[in-house]
Amino acid sequence: LRLILLGFGNVGQGLGELLLEKRREINRALGLRLDVVAVVDSKGYALFESGLDLSEVLHAKRSFGTVAKHQKWGSTELDAIEVIENFDADIIVEMTPTNIIDGEPGMSFIKSAFRTSKHVVSTNKGPFALDYKGVINEAYEKGLNIKFSGTVGGATPMIDFAKKCVVANDIIGVEGILNGTTNYILTKMHVEGQRFEDALVDAQKMGIAEADPSYDIEGIDAACKLTIIANSIMNRYVTVHDVETRGIGGVTPAQILDAKNRGMAIKLICEIGEKISVGPKEVPLNSPLCVHGTLNVIKYSTELASDFFLVGAGAGGKETATAVLRDIIDIAYKIGEIKV
Ligand SMILES: NC(=O)c1ccc[n+]([C@@H]2O[C@H](COP(=O)([O-])OP(=O)(O)OC[C@H]3O[C@@H](n4cnc5c(N)ncnc54)[C@H](OP(=O)(O)O)[C@@H]3O)[C@@H](O)[C@H]2O)c1
Repeated sequence: LRLILLGFGNVGQGLGELLLEKRREINRALGLRLDVVAVVDSKGYALFESGLDLSEVLHAKRSFGTVAKHQKWGSTELDAIEVIENFDADIIVEMTPTNIIDGEPGMSFIKSAFRTSKHVVSTNKGPFALDYKGVINEAYEKGLNIKFSGTVGGATPMIDFAKKCVVANDIIGVEGILNGTTNYILTKMHVEGQRFEDALVDAQKMGIAEADPSYDIEGIDAACKLTIIANSIMNRYVTVHDVETRGIGGVTPAQILDAKNRGMAIKLICEIGEKISVGPKEVPLNSPLCVHGTLNVIKYSTELASDFFLVGAGAGGKETATAVLRDIIDIAYKIGEIKV
């Protein structure tokens, strides 16, 4: 399979490293060869139609800040859309920043992949949180695959678990913690009695929170993930704007202490029931939902078999890259590149 990588930041570089580590093993175990023919970042691209040497591309990115500075393969001649449309590839891997104003640049990249009959794997929440149905329908009409495991739960297969393992048993409710940054901050406040502002600075120093942490703190990141779950698992055709969203900025140490004294913890809880909501809520300390640090958790309540809980790392470049690789291999099965 020929891949074009769009975005070469935390997740993109994580995927580059993962392919270097696992490509030979995948080839041996599945008979699947994965070649990256182009890597695009915001300043240009590296392209080699016979397959790039990823260690060289990673080296160029880390040395010069852009893959476009690679001596042999780097270029700025074309824009990203021209790279997608002018070169032969099977799968576009879309890993550019999430934007919930208009979903760009990811939305245009995905449409451009569909225009030229390429399958898509994406970790970018924006296009799905804004127009899930539109994106999925377009892929369906063109007979193409689009997979987006990495948008929710990082490496933890929250969507695949629900779609593949919970069949003939309707999921009737969802509850969970889907944002590691806010969970880390609330854990610091709970365990060490820190103020919100201090816990946030701590998270930024540890590289857990972005320089601009507003999407996380205001609950928008969690609301995007919940929107994707609502659409893909429960056929609830909503956008991120339909999610009742409150962040954790107003949570005080006094509230946390009061909850703690009653055997509870305040968590940023995502819920799909009659309403779809994200907001701070008390959960019992002994509940399986009460995970700490950067962990994520999801509870699927089912019609016939009570509740399932899934806990795991919700983010991280390399961790999320494992979800991307899972999606690529899944598409390879679907299109017959791997024989069952
Ligand atoms: N990091 C995680 O743990 C994680 C987990 C799950 C999902 N995600 C999602 O995955 C996506 C990527 O996350 P990330 O952490 O890797 O972000 P990141 O480190 O900010 O990387 C984003 C990449 O996209 C490139 N880019 C930006 N605008 C572009 C454009 N117009 N054309 C081409 N490339 C462009 C950037 O180029 P430059 O390098 O030149 O700036 C950068 O390489 C996001 O949508 C994020 O929400 C991330």
